[in-house]
Order: sequence, then structure tokens, then C-alpha cells
Amino acid sequence: MDTPVQYTPVHYTGTERRPRIFRDDLLQGRISLVTGGSSGIGLGIVRVFAEFGATVVFLGRREDKLASAREQLLREVPSANLETVALDVRHHGAMREAVASIVERHGRLDILVNNAAGNFHCPTEALSENGWRSVIDIDLNGTFNGCQAALPGLKASPHGGRILNITVPQALSGWPGSAHAASAKAGILSLTRSLAVEWGGYGIRVNNVLPGPIAGTEGLKRLYEDRGIADHEYERMAMGCFGLVDDIANACAYLASPGGDFVTGCDFMVDGGRWLKRGWV
Ligand code: HXC
Ligand code: NAP
Repeated sequence: MDTPVQYTPVHYTGTERRPRIFRDDLLQGRISLVTGGSSGIGLGIVRVFAEFGATVVFLGRREDKLASAREQLLREVPSANLETVALDVRHHGAMREAVASIVERHGRLDILVNNAAGNFHCPTEALSENGWRSVIDIDLNGTFNGCQAALPGLKASPHGGRILNITVPQALSGWPGSAHAASAKAGILSLTRSLAVEWGGYGIRVNNVLPGPIAGTEGLKRLYEDRGIADHEYERMAMGCFGLVDDIANACAYLASPGGDFVTGCDFMVDGGRWLKRGWV
């Protein structure tokens, strides 16, 4: 029998990169819009899309955060075509205006990534009505706003429009202490499946991407690290480690590319096996 290779999980800081796995022009000339692109996973998606040749418009609420993210990306990817828009995804009209401006300037939209989200730990017993409403509004209503605003642009895509909705595995399991986010994300899963059918006739593919805990992100910090439970969380990971933003960005790049032509309505789990591990191994 062969001696098994020793597998040692790496505990990432979050600054590490994965090797480039696709050809350099994978998304050349694609026009994309990433919500919540100024930090964390969204920023990682903007970076990878830009590296693969896409024009990336990314948005968030804070102008200064968008500007420094853009500066950082231009240092890393000098050839990047980047535009920023400061808006709140809760505002349907602002989302419509942002997409209309993209379509006016570029003629179409090829890829929409709904990534902007809000979350905080709060037992439901203590959650205020406004706390519940805020998270539902950003995550679920914001995703609806993005999808509906993007539709005319996506219909005009010669590549077949793509919508990628960033959700979370706890949308399937429930999430004690984050019932607002789990409920909003579960709504997104269902919205995705509905639109995959409604808009399939326009050539538009609509998919969910479900990240596990990702090193170096705000989500990991506020949900696990600040609460002192990050070490415990490692035990829930089948792979024994957290992921990198590149893991999510590469999954998005695949789904947005011709490789994803026959993939629609799927839940693309990128979570290191966390959602399956129940503690019996
Ligand atoms: C209890 C809280 C709270 C907390 C806010 N609220 N934080 N309640 N515990 N920690 C309540 C407020 O008291 C208020 O209710 C209501 O929520 C709205 O708060 P605002 O600050 O006025 O809202 P807003 O400015 O719109 O901010 C939205 C937010 C905020 C969601 C509250 O945290 C935010 O902007 N988040 C964006 C960044 C983020 O969350 N990133 C992580 C995503 S990670 P009252 O009743 O007082 O008016 C993720 C998955 C992570 O989604 C997975 C980890 C592995
Ligand atoms: P993050 O760093 O806090 O990023 C959130 C982004 O969304 C920022 O650009 C933020 O910018 C923007 N944003 C927040 N509220 C907004 C609003 N109302 N309108 C417009 N933009 C808004 O978060 P993250 O940890 O990378 O998480 C990103 C996504 O991955 C989320 O959908 C999250 O649910 C999902 N996810 C994360 C993890 C993880 O481990 N981090 C795991 C599973 C799923 P402004 O603050 O300037 O608006």
C-alpha cells in the first residue's frame, strides 16, 4: 500500500493568493457589475475579473472606501478597467440609474454579481424590528433590485448574461444568532432558482455561490473572531482550514465564463466541506 501523503491544513491570514487557474483572456471585454466590491470577497471578485480582462464597475456606499480599493487594484493590476459607483443597494432607483449608465456607455451588461450584504450576531429574542429589516433589505431586497435593474443590460449581452448571487451555506441549515441573514440568503437561493427559469429564455444564467468562512474578511471577523469562536470553527471544516477570497472569485470566474454556459439555477458550494461536517469523524 502507498504511504498516504501528509495533509496539513494551512491557517491563512487572508492575504494569500491562489495560482491563476484559467487562461488570461477568460473574461476579456466582458462588462461586469459587482455590488459590495470595495472590500472582502467582493474586492477579490473585482480583482480576479479585472485580471481576466473584464471591465468591472463596482459599488458600495462609501466613496472613500471605493476610491482606496480602486487605487489598490490599479497598483496590483495596472491594466484593469475599473469604474466605481457610490450607492446603497436598498435603493431600487439608484440601482436602475447605475445600470442604465453602464448600458449607455458600454452597450450592455454581461455579468452581475450581487455580493453586498449586512450581518451581525444577535439572538432573535433580542433583535429589533429595524435590525431584522436592515439585513433583509440589504441582502434580499438589494439582490432583487440588482437583478431587476440589470435585466435590460443582461438581455443585450452577446455572451448570455450571468447573474451570480453570493449567499451562505447557513441559508440551507438555518443560523442561530443570525436568523436575519440566514432568512435573507434563503430567499436569495429561491429567487435565483426562479429567475434561472424565468430568464433562461433570454440566455441569462443565474446561480448561487455559497462561500464558507473566508480568511481576512469582515464577515469572519464579526461573526467568529470578535466572538472568540474562530478556533472552534476550524473543527467544523472538513478541510481543516478557512478559504481565500480567490476561492470564491475563481468560482465566480468559472460561472461567468463560457465554462458556465450550461450551468444555471445551481448552488455552488465553496465552503471546504463545512456544511456537511456534523462532528462524527
Ligand atoms: C444588534 C444591531 C447590531 C448588533 C446593528 N444593529 N448592529 N443589533 N446587534 N451587532 C441594529 C441597529 O441597532 C439598528 O436597529 C439596525 O440594526 C440598523 O442598524 P444601522 O447601523 O442603522 O444600519 P445600517 O447603517 O443600514 O447598517 C447595516 C448593518 C451594518 C447590517 C447593521 O452592520 C452594515 O452596514 N454591515 C455591512 C458590512 C457587513 O455586515 N459585512 C459582513 C457581511 S458577512 P435599531 O432598532 O437600533 O434602529 C456575511 C456572512 C458572514 O453576510 C459569514 C461568516 C463566515
Ligand atoms: P464585507 O467586507 O463587509 O463587504 C461588504 C461590501 O458590501 C462592502 O463593499 C460594503 O461597502 C458593501 N455594502 C454593504 N452594505 C451595502 C449597501 N447597503 N449598499 C451597497 N453596498 C453595501 O463583507 P464580506 O465578508 O466580504 O462578505 C461579502 C459577501 O460574502 C456577503 O454577501 C456575505 O454574506 C458573503 N459571505 C461571506 C463570508 C465570509 O467568510 N466573509 C462567508 C459566506 C458568505 P460599504 O460598507 O461602503 O457599503
